[in-house]
Amino acid sequence: MLRPVLLGLAFLALAPNTQAQASSPATTIAAEACFGCHGPAGQGVTGGAAIAGMDRAELSATLIAFRSNERPGTIMGRIARGYNDAEIAAISDYIARQR
Ligand code: HEC
Repeated sequence: MLRPVLLGLAFLALAPNTQAQASSPATTIAAEACFGCHGPAGQGVTGGAAIAGMDRAELSATLIAFRSNERPGTIMGRIARGYNDAEIAAISDYIARQR
């Protein structure tokens, strides 16, 4: 009688995780599109500034400024132009939470 209960609990424990991953494209974007240049988890590497843990609002503002060419850059303008406001907000939120 205990077994079905445990299975049910295991399922409940797994379900929210699966959902959180599916609803978090920012995780994938950051890993595939940002961390290659800004180091693993955005910690920074030679030639790539550390962006992990930057203030969320500052990150968004920086990306939007790169996107509009208000802030000059060699590559970030072109990269930022690939994302809409909602994506920039999601990416910024995710990267701001990295340590
Ligand atoms: C091809 C390498 C490359 C990729 C990919 C890349 N960056 Fe950058 N990033 C740079 C460079 C180089 C700079 C310096 C500005 C410039 O020259 O464009 C920079 C600057 C920045 C800055 C300003 C840092 C500071 O200290 O002022 C932020 C924020 C940033 N990038 C965020 C991101 C995010 C978020 C992504 C993913 C969407 C990303 N970058 C992807 C190369 C990259």
